[in-house]
Amino acid sequence: MIQELESILSQVFKELGYETTAKVIKSNRPDLCDYQCDNAFSLAKLYHQNPMEIGNKIVDALKSIDNFSSFFESVTFAPPGFINMTVSNKFINKYIRLLKEDFKALLPKEKPETFVLDFGGANVAKPLHVGHMRTIMVGESVARIIRFLGHITISDVHLGDFGLQIGQVIYGVLRDGKSIDDIDIKYLDKIYPEMSALCKENEEIKEKCAILTKELQDGNKEYQKLWKKILEVSIQDIKKNYDYLGANFDLWLGESDSYKHLDELVTLLEKQNLLEISEGARVIDVSLETDKKEVPPLLFQKSNGAYLYASTDLATILQRKNDYDPDHILYVVDNRQSLHFEQVFRASDKALIMPYNSLEHLGYGTVNGEDGKPYKTRSGETPKLETLFEKAKEIFISKKETNKDMKEEDVDKIVNAILKFADLQNSREKDYIFDLNKFSDVSGKTGPYILYTYLRINKILKDSQINTKLTDVIYNKYDRDLRLKLIDFSSYVMLAFKERKPHYIADYVYNLCVACNIFYQNNYISNMEDEVNKNDWLYVLELSNKVIKEMLDLLVIEIPSVM
Ligand code: ARG
Repeated sequence: MIQELESILSQVFKELGYETTAKVIKSNRPDLCDYQCDNAFSLAKLYHQNPMEIGNKIVDALKSIDNFSSFFESVTFAPPGFINMTVSNKFINKYIRLLKEDFKALLPKEKPETFVLDFGGANVAKPLHVGHMRTIMVGESVARIIRFLGHITISDVHLGDFGLQIGQVIYGVLRDGKSIDDIDIKYLDKIYPEMSALCKENEEIKEKCAILTKELQDGNKEYQKLWKKILEVSIQDIKKNYDYLGANFDLWLGESDSYKHLDELVTLLEKQNLLEISEGARVIDVSLETDKKEVPPLLFQKSNGAYLYASTDLATILQRKNDYDPDHILYVVDNRQSLHFEQVFRASDKALIMPYNSLEHLGYGTVNGEDGKPYKTRSGETPKLETLFEKAKEIFISKKETNKDMKEEDVDKIVNAILKFADLQNSREKDYIFDLNKFSDVSGKTGPYILYTYLRINKILKDSQINTKLTDVIYNKYDRDLRLKLIDFSSYVMLAFKERKPHYIADYVYNLCVACNIFYQNNYISNMEDEVNKNDWLYVLELSNKVIKEMLDLLVIEIPSVM
């Protein structure tokens, strides 16, 4: 709709002798009009005329176009230079029909590109906690938004499976005299925190664990055996959590898989003369003359020969380039790793592996408790992610009186929606406060509110026969507001795609649900006598639910059969 308005206005500009393309935006004053155009101000500067004069001229010319009423109800000039447009019902309904026929008709047709999505990134052998939810939710949602627009995605979990934590756990296994069969999830949950604490106090043990890790990476047979078992047990547990959150991965690769690409990488880096020796270690200078803040060199290989996080990430870019030749690689990783990615992306660019602007770090903020610090239980522990899922379920069940007959599966879907909507409605780079009580409210901007709206509309639709013809009438303000909201959908999807931010979708679907609720609170459909009016409204509600459902799918939220 905005594009069509822009082309109508641009044509008018041309006829008046103004060589500018028009820009139309949603009105800042919805009480006055639907859309506005502020070009009179820039035209005034360009043509050394008064914006009042230009604005009035444009309005007059617009009023005399052919088919004015197919597009507009009214167009007015508002001093000092605004052009306010109220679109006609006919124009609105043209788009409503288009949407109903082909849901994606309003989205731009872009050339399909290939995106590798790197998210999840759990560290094997470490328990998952609340912070791990964000990469999963944002990552899976961004992947779905990208696919919705017709692009190709390849998602890779990129597990942290070869780092110091593995050496620490193996050290623990050997110290405790455990056999390979003793390694189960209960043991891992206990041993990692214990070893991690021990290494903080004891330099000597820490050093031993580092040596052990290096030997594992170099191929020590005994350690490799234990490592494989640790992977098996831990990945099974990680998968369970990811499944619960609805994340899908095409690839289950990890840092360890990048080691076989290191030789090729080193050759490339040497060819570009990028490796320098600094205090026995190999580093890559990634600073730029334009840097305002110092960007330190990327540490590529320690003096003992060990490779690091940045080296495995660089090798992984090379592997992805070789395997998929993607147009983009997106990393959904904590904001606190922004320097790491800056270094890795610069090094990739310098080594001519993939250019800097094809690599994006989609950073996200921290999940905090009410005290504004990273979320912990009352007793000060970081709870396991699974425990939080259970807690959310408990709270939901305790709040709900009629839950007795509800299927377990539906309860899980609602709890899932509670957590996801609470997370995804926040702009990803911001921190947010984790408050299960607030999240599970049926009123307010919550998952249950959206589900409730959908199910209520579904109930109305279930027993009705809907004719596929929509008239050109719009019956009242609530009706009109809802139809305009529906047409907005494509611009929010585009915004979410361009900025890689699912919260635009969450915002939109919430506002759409508000419009739906206001609509049916004021318009009694069930016992309506006017069949034509009734059909038009059912048509609009059916479309609303289609949009809500699709948007929920982009947020990885499933709809229960009842609430
Ligand atoms: N395992 C890493 C961590 O927990 C996250 C991995 C993110 N992906 C990447 N390619 N670096 O910090």
